[in-house]
Amino acid sequence: MKPAKLMAISSAFIVALVLGACSGEKEEVELSDQQESAMVERLAPDGEVALASEVSAAPAASSGGSRSGEEVYNTKCTACHATGAAGAPKTGVADDWTDRIAKGMDVLYASAISGLNGMPPKGLCMDCSDDELKAAVDHMLAQ
Ligand code: HEC
Repeated sequence: MKPAKLMAISSAFIVALVLGACSGEKEEVELSDQQESAMVERLAPDGEVALASEVSAAPAASSGGSRSGEEVYNTKCTACHATGAAGAPKTGVADDWTDRIAKGMDVLYASAISGLNGMPPKGLCMDCSDDELKAAVDHMLAQ
């Protein structure tokens, strides 16, 4: 066989290989609706901000079922309210709370849900229901 003929045959072979590889790629991205929603779910962010100080204390809280005020407080509120971080009124220090309690429970619940200055909305418990937050406030005030 002459070299020129050899070249022609082998380049035809390469072109066929490349075409084959490209058409194979197209088929890969077809996902069923179900696969796609499963993927979206896996990629979705948790919607939760974790403070470094909380990480060890909080076993990834599940959003199902309602937690007690104590559980919510221990995993979410204690980071600021145990130490007075960011000017938070301290749990168990009555003086920090007298003026606040005088505002009435509804005001305190509303602050816990919507935030107030350095107090972030929902106390950073983004998956807490209003009732769980109220229970956490009750727990904090009972100390
Ligand atoms: C990032 C820190 C931080 C976290 C976490 C946090 N708090 Fe607070 N909280 C504050 C600060 C700061 C204030 C004081 C706000 C002010 O009066 O300016 C406050 C105030 C409050 C008040 C009093 C509001 C008022 O009207 O006087 C309540 C009630 C409260 N927090 C409940 C909670 C609950 C319940 C949680 C947990 C679900 C929580 N907080 C988590 C920082 C925090």
